[in-house]
Amino acid sequence: MNIVVFGKNGQLAQSLRNQANLDANYVSSAEVDFMKPSRVSEFLNDISPELIINCSAYTNVVAAENDEESAHKINVESVGKISEFCNLNNAHFIHISTELVFDGEKKQPYTEDDPTNPLNVYGKTKMLGEQMVVNNCSKYAILRTSWLYSHYGENFLMKIFNAVLKGDQIYGVNDRFGNPTSAFELARIISKLVEKISKGENIEGVFHCSGSEVSSRYNFVKMICEVMKEKGLISSYKIEESVSNLISDGVTRPENATFDCNKITTLFDLRDKTLKNCIEEVIDYLV
Ligand SMILES: NC(=O)c1ccc[n+]([C@@H]2O[C@H](COP(=O)([O-])OP(=O)(O)OC[C@H]3O[C@@H](n4cnc5c(N)ncnc54)[C@H](OP(=O)(O)O)[C@@H]3O)[C@@H](O)[C@H]2O)c1
Repeated sequence: MNIVVFGKNGQLAQSLRNQANLDANYVSSAEVDFMKPSRVSEFLNDISPELIINCSAYTNVVAAENDEESAHKINVESVGKISEFCNLNNAHFIHISTELVFDGEKKQPYTEDDPTNPLNVYGKTKMLGEQMVVNNCSKYAILRTSWLYSHYGENFLMKIFNAVLKGDQIYGVNDRFGNPTSAFELARIISKLVEKISKGENIEGVFHCSGSEVSSRYNFVKMICEVMKEKGLISSYKIEESVSNLISDGVTRPENATFDCNKITTLFDLRDKTLKNCIEEVIDYLV
């Protein structure tokens, strides 16, 4: 199957290539810049893929607040161009979205049918991107994930890992909850999805796809430190427990945006790894 993966050097695409061993044409922003949406159409028309996996996104939630135009080009307009291509060429589209399409008002885990109501610019552009896919494509899967981590790049786990090694003061807020998700595990699920699609199945719809354990930021930080200690990287650690309005970066985020993932786990008969096991697998690459 002729597969294109956008976002070549991002953590999810790297996990697809290296941890899920997905054979595909990996494309970076240097080759196709989503800031020029017409370039996306040009590229796709040239190479005619049968399946597109979009791991590209404007992911800097803080910067997006003052740069909505760029976030819109990358997260909405370019996604619209991919959707149009898929529609016209009967191609499949796997698109990745986020828990930040929700406002966090719901006290139980969000299901795929819950209404979206993003609180920040990034979340708004990701929601509009989803709408582009749903309105233009027939053969699509939107995978909403959350708190993605790996040993690639600048994600939350890597920030904590490097700060702990440097001996910086570590803070963890205890009033924000989510499902931390290993990019390796998400990549493996995408690879299973690709297998089904290549056997002729059409898997259509929105799927919540995150790690199984709900965690506060504080608990996530603690788990990272605990694994680092067990692996002999540090001898002790100290985390300052805090609340989010004391460590604010100016972006409004949902307090509780946890996922009900029953739809995807039933589809694939998935057995979940624990959060600790997933963190261990990532940190093993850093030891
Ligand atoms: N990180 C999270 O916590 C999180 C949570 C929920 C959902 N998500 C979603 O999961 C997906 C994967 O995220 P990630 O964490 O792997 O992101 P990431 O590591 O930040 O990678 C995003 C990639 O997007 C590509 N990109 C950025 N600007 C571009 C442009 N102008 N043109 C074309 N490509 C561009 C870049 O690819 P190149 O470097 O190859 O140029 C970049 O590496 C995204 O859809 C994101 O919204 C992430």
